[in-house]
Amino acid sequence: MSRYAETYASWRADPVGFWQQAAEQIDWFTPAKSVFNPASGVYGRWFDGATCNTCYNCVDRHVVAGNGDRLAVVYDSPVTGQVARYTFGELQDQVSALASVLRGLGVTKGDRVVIYMPMVPEAIFAMLACARLGAIHSVVFGGFAPQELATRIDDAAPKVVISASCGIEPGRVIAYKPLLDEAIDLSENKPDHCVILQRDTQLCDLTPVRDVDYAEAVETALARGEGTECVPVDATDPLYILYTSGTTGQPKGVVRDNGGHMVALKWTMEHHYDIKPGEVFWAASDVGWVVGHSWICYGPLLHGAATVVFEGKPVGTPDAGTFWRVIQDHGVAALFAAPTALRAIKKEDPKGTLIGEYDFSKFRTLFLAGERSDPATIEWAQEKLDRPVIDHWWQTETGWAMSGNPVGLGAFPVKLGSTGKPMPGYDIRVLDDAGNAVAPGTLGNIVCKLPLPPAGFPTLWNAPDRFISSYMAEYPGYYATSDAGIIDEDGYVFIMARTDDIINVAGHRLSTGAMEEVIGSHPDIAECAVVGKADALKGQMPLGLFVTNNGANRDESELERELVQLIRAKIGAVAAFKHAIEVKRLPKTRSGKVLRGTVQKIADGESFKMPAAIDDPAILDEISAALKAHNMIGEPV
Ligand code: COA
Ligand code: AMP
Repeated sequence: MSRYAETYASWRADPVGFWQQAAEQIDWFTPAKSVFNPASGVYGRWFDGATCNTCYNCVDRHVVAGNGDRLAVVYDSPVTGQVARYTFGELQDQVSALASVLRGLGVTKGDRVVIYMPMVPEAIFAMLACARLGAIHSVVFGGFAPQELATRIDDAAPKVVISASCGIEPGRVIAYKPLLDEAIDLSENKPDHCVILQRDTQLCDLTPVRDVDYAEAVETALARGEGTECVPVDATDPLYILYTSGTTGQPKGVVRDNGGHMVALKWTMEHHYDIKPGEVFWAASDVGWVVGHSWICYGPLLHGAATVVFEGKPVGTPDAGTFWRVIQDHGVAALFAAPTALRAIKKEDPKGTLIGEYDFSKFRTLFLAGERSDPATIEWAQEKLDRPVIDHWWQTETGWAMSGNPVGLGAFPVKLGSTGKPMPGYDIRVLDDAGNAVAPGTLGNIVCKLPLPPAGFPTLWNAPDRFISSYMAEYPGYYATSDAGIIDEDGYVFIMARTDDIINVAGHRLSTGAMEEVIGSHPDIAECAVVGKADALKGQMPLGLFVTNNGANRDESELERELVQLIRAKIGAVAAFKHAIEVKRLPKTRSGKVLRGTVQKIADGESFKMPAAIDDPAILDEISAALKAHNMIGEPV
């Protein structure tokens, strides 16, 4: 029997009491003056007046409790052939020494540190070292180009950047250092220092004075016995800033606090993921995304569980059995992955033959999130793994699942296509565009009644007005998620699409607006539109339509190549922008708004209603013809 219903009801009856009880699982330096202070912040703040340290709760307290020999971090890197294991005691040594190095470079409480790292354990050490000092980290995904890194450096104004000589993608080494140097050249807020991890695969030159060798500095600190104590911070102080795509090229700096974040993650590890301290949890994501923050770094460690840092891909490193090998080799109890990863594995090994080669005796549950899970993939995974497959829905802004199926409370029956039911803390509603509640089973805008629960973002870094205008203004009293979906008669949530210009490519959240800004900067382009076209593997792929300037007279495929290259250079390979098609005109409303939704439907081969406000319906035929000529209708690209 699932205890979900009674647990959700107990939260509804007494939200403050619910989180007060959950907070007993965290070690505080001083307790909260008010568990929830409605008068503080935009919609209230959790654990107001408390002081704490996130690193202490992730690392030191496990050592103090006598669990220093317990496994904390496993590094498994099929791209380098390395495996390394760190106990909580070793993790404490590494993190404390690195914090001492950072402090020596002038980093103190409240300072920002940008982390631009591949999937190596030092990325986790860096995050925890910042948390230890009360410094605010901002991790930037390694697949972003220098321009994107520069935008984030400029906004966060870090004192120090922590990076590595290179990242390793299948078949190629990516020199990070030149990308970092270029980003620093482009930014106005130059960091004082860069701490660079030299990787054997490819070393880099260090810039005198500015750059510090990570390993040398940490080794020196360890040899000298230099460590650092955990600096008390307010529960409401920022732990990190994580930039995520918004509707413009300027990313949004989502701020996460210390206290509420710990409480929510600890609760979730036990009740949603059903993990016990001492077990191994694996989120196959990247530290650059929110999943990496919550479920590679903080969640498992807060809980005293081990986490896996995996440097590889679901396929090709070396084969579609890699995930299953990691589960076996490290005794993984639960895996959290993006549906894309499962689709990639299914494509290579449709019969699941490789699954049978590995020992799954400790493996209990597969969790999926990050993008819509198609029922066929869930059914395949259920059948081949013979384990529950749990879809759950969340966003960078919330830091943990808004809807799911809490296995630790006893899972309720799965409905294919649904992301489960609202989690305690979330009062999820579906509203029409006028803000009225819609009937169960009706598609509408998904919103959450304020306040957001612990870990919910309190603001955007340097952009408090954008916080209000992007999230709080449209439906007063509610957080607008920008997702559209349905809640059915049984209370199951279905997430169907974004209501803004964000697309989801291989579980990566990308702004089509940002891509349009880049394409529009090409001298031969008059105007453009980017839409997310359905893709069998990655969920969506960006597809660009462009109109050239009068007299440009360019060869279409040559221009396409230039635009693809421009997006790689300005945003990064992660945008997966591969197709741009020339059209004579873009379809617009009479007020000049490009009808991207209609273009997307044409590209996906879906039926559509002629938009009432369309300026010239004949343009849609032109678009259809152009897409057809490029084989870009219906069948996934
Ligand atoms: N640093 C530098 N480049 C990176 C990178 C990184 N950390 N991560 C990805 N890239 C590059 C890739 O090399 C690729 O470049 P290419 O166009 O030159 O080949 C591009 O960005 C797109 O990468 P990716 O989305 O990983 O696509 P892929 O075709 O290499 O692999 C999958 C396909 C399905 C295997 C892969 O997308 C995948 O593992 N998806 C799951 C994603 C995930 O876990 N998301 C979590 C969000 S919760
Ligand atoms: P991010 O902030 O990068 O985690 O992306 C959040 C967005 O990913 C959400 O707003 C959704 O559009 C999408 N998303 C995340 N999880 C799911 C899911 N389980 N099902 C459907 N969409 C999802």
